[in-house]
Amino acid sequence: MVEAARHAAQVRSTDAIRGQFPALERRQGGFSVAYFDGPGGTQVPRSVAEAMSDYLLHHNANRHWAFATSAETDQAVENARAALADFLNATPHEVVFGANMTTLTFHLSRALGRHWQAGDEVVVTELDHHANIAPWQALARERGITLRIVRMIPETGQLDWNDFERQVNGKTRLVAVAAASNALGAINDIRRAAGIAHRARAWLLVDAVHYAPHELTDVRAMDCEFLVCSAYKFYGPHVGVLFGKLDLLQTIDFPKLAPAPDIAPERAETGTQNHEGIVGAGAAVDFMASLAAGSTRRERLSAVLEEFEKRGQRLVRKLWEGLAGIPKVKLFGPPPEAPRTPTVSFTIQGVSPEEAARKLGEQGLFLSHGDFYAKTVVERLGLAPQGLIRAGCACYTTEDEVRRLIEAVRKLA
Ligand SMILES: Cc1ncc(COP(=O)(O)O)c(C=O)c1O
Repeated sequence: MVEAARHAAQVRSTDAIRGQFPALERRQGGFSVAYFDGPGGTQVPRSVAEAMSDYLLHHNANRHWAFATSAETDQAVENARAALADFLNATPHEVVFGANMTTLTFHLSRALGRHWQAGDEVVVTELDHHANIAPWQALARERGITLRIVRMIPETGQLDWNDFERQVNGKTRLVAVAAASNALGAINDIRRAAGIAHRARAWLLVDAVHYAPHELTDVRAMDCEFLVCSAYKFYGPHVGVLFGKLDLLQTIDFPKLAPAPDIAPERAETGTQNHEGIVGAGAAVDFMASLAAGSTRRERLSAVLEEFEKRGQRLVRKLWEGLAGIPKVKLFGPPPEAPRTPTVSFTIQGVSPEEAARKLGEQGLFLSHGDFYAKTVVERLGLAPQGLIRAGCACYTTEDEVRRLIEAVRKLA
């Protein structure tokens, strides 16, 4: 108890964190804005925007040339790689930058597909965002591979692990699964997925886009070959990140230009990168690390993400219990005591998700609605095409904002 309190005290308070986000000063219709749209993209702290503007205004150049700003750009990208490596528990050579998770996953699937043929299989899940389905589906069309889809359990929003075991077999080349569902908040047991994939000698790709802002991501502990995430979900700009095990990044036949560098990780990157975005992604990691003490960046990140998880659990319990007490509200996904992120999706009887989101938005409560590209989830819940309303808590979400949201939903219902 004392240890937990000491640990929590080391991480800056939600109030102190909020002071770093100018967006939180915004008002809408006379109300201060509460951003519950984090699963679609979080707000950005001042330090991230400043790092990006400093890069653009003072160091902007293309890479690998012999003058100062080019060398500074090389250094800035390498610094960001080191930051992201600490964030994922990888090495900098294993960190690939790209436009976003979707583009990186299509790029990886195209590269892997060059080695595959009819008879090879890829396993995806119904719970996933389509960015982790469509790239593999494309290989079914282009390379004749077979796509197998693990079922979700609609009642709990969790994966059907018996089906998972059934779908993976000796022909499986890759298992692609999310660490957490962006639609329902369910956290999947990635170690278990890795065990199943590796027993079949298949590779594991983890979509950590929704997981990374809420839990400490550890590619070694997850035992995955690949992992993808997006900086704009963890307080950074719109940049995607791919982790790949070094030997794979060194040997996979990525589509690339002959004159471009052929060493990992650059051989997996295409064209001129978004340097300012990459700088911002590194600054987002440094922002999180700056919220706690510790002798290394990874140690500080570990303390912060552990505390984010605890704060998220408190918020999700309040949100879930508050919404569950409203007769016309139906909640989806796992209950607060199950492994989950602080993302709660629901419907209100008689009010469409879009209408609800619009009315809440007028009161400064910003929530997303629809299928969030987790289209199969919404279909399996029988909610297509209107989908769900989604309330996502982030590191700047307060209990007061959660109370405000519950009261507003109660009035709407
Ligand atoms: C779980 C999950 N996977 C993948 C994506 C796609 O990420 P990106 O927008 O970086 O392509 C998202 C975006 O919302 C997501 O939530």
